[in-house]
Amino acid sequence: MRSYKAKMVEPIRLPSREEREAALDAAGYNAFNLDAADVFVDLLTDSGTGTMSAEQWAALMRGDEAYAGSDSFGRLCESVADVMGFEHVVPTHQGRGAENVLYGVLVDEGDVVPNNAHFDTTRAHVANQGAEPVDCTLPAARDPDSSDPFKGDFDVDAGWELVEEVGAESIPVVVLTITNNSVAGQPVSVENTREVAAFAEEIDATFVVDACRFAENAYFVRERESEFAGWTVADIVREQLSYADAVTMSGKKDAIVNIGGFAAMRDDDVFEAAKQRAILYEGFPTYGGLAGRDVEAMAVGLREAVEPPYVEERVEQVAELGRLLVEAGVPVYEPTGGHAVYVDAERVLPHVPKDRYPGQALVCALYREGGVRGVELGGFAFPGTDRPDLVRLALPRRTYSREHLEHVAETAGRVRESAEEYRGLEIVEEPEMAELRHFSARLRPV
Ligand code: F0G
Repeated sequence: MRSYKAKMVEPIRLPSREEREAALDAAGYNAFNLDAADVFVDLLTDSGTGTMSAEQWAALMRGDEAYAGSDSFGRLCESVADVMGFEHVVPTHQGRGAENVLYGVLVDEGDVVPNNAHFDTTRAHVANQGAEPVDCTLPAARDPDSSDPFKGDFDVDAGWELVEEVGAESIPVVVLTITNNSVAGQPVSVENTREVAAFAEEIDATFVVDACRFAENAYFVRERESEFAGWTVADIVREQLSYADAVTMSGKKDAIVNIGGFAAMRDDDVFEAAKQRAILYEGFPTYGGLAGRDVEAMAVGLREAVEPPYVEERVEQVAELGRLLVEAGVPVYEPTGGHAVYVDAERVLPHVPKDRYPGQALVCALYREGGVRGVELGGFAFPGTDRPDLVRLALPRRTYSREHLEHVAETAGRVRESAEEYRGLEIVEEPEMAELRHFSARLRPV
């Protein structure tokens, strides 16, 4: 049962099958090229696509648009201090802005940066500094059937192996991404957070948490880590983040806004340097590339993320989509993550070879069959890697109802039943940078 009702609605429409087929063809079999108006249930991302509350909309009106010293910035600082426990805040236009600001200060050419798994933009910003991003992912994360409760954890043994290989002096920063988006949205335990903090301290590195989905992670901790049974999500968030020296945050996730982000840190010198870099890339450090009203909505959203029963309903809705898919015979990565269900495309379309992009073929099939848009996170999006071909169905926050989830599961079930109809794809046009090809490449069925 949802503890909210709709106050504003946005019409959506399922185009006819002929229209969907024509739209897919015009989009070059790439769901990023579809017009949103042609999509019925849009599960492309949970980023910036959620529904703001009445309080957040009211906060927009309170937004103080002063260039310097805006009241809205003061309210953001209070929220970050209360919810996350950091005193120094540098607002940015979104999460990758925070990465640019913070890693620009902390990371130099030739450095190595371990992470439980880098999200694409984190990887790109580390690389942009001339450093090498390294994933220290648990072996269990590669097994879609293992029921390990914290498959998102950082593999500390792998971290020590890296230290042995490159030397502690090459590692200025250790990052922990909660939840772990690149590992099917799996959570990270507080116990692991403590171990990673100790590891970072021992090698004298700054411990950064990528906190985009901090509230969803805390809910999993409450459900799965015995030490925290009976704690509030708010208290778990404070506990988990208390070990970090700094955080990067995309407000488009667990601050439930359409745009915004920030970096927050404890160290005064890092704060000063980050503000200077923010002026260069984002804007004056009290607005950070955002309108005052957006800063204000983020200040409210951060608090809502830890207020019961919001996050419990949020994560349970994702689990519900996972269950409906399994009931429809669709193989999914287990357990379901905090923001998305990841469908195992290699098992849905076993006849499509890996070099014909079964994940992307499934994305197209879901759209063709039911106007559902997901995103491929496998061999098409990450060329040259051995990633499993998964399709992510990410749920925007407070947006879709049970009927929409049923439609998604029925659609996927029909695709599975008529799997032989769906062929693989080949790329006919792609941009120069292979890392970005999934955003704009054009394909055709073969
Ligand atoms: N870190 C993680 C773990 C993310 O998932 C994202 C964004 C970012 C950083 C960057 O934040 O988009 O505000 O600049 N993830 C979105 C997604 C885009 O669809 O998973 P941003």
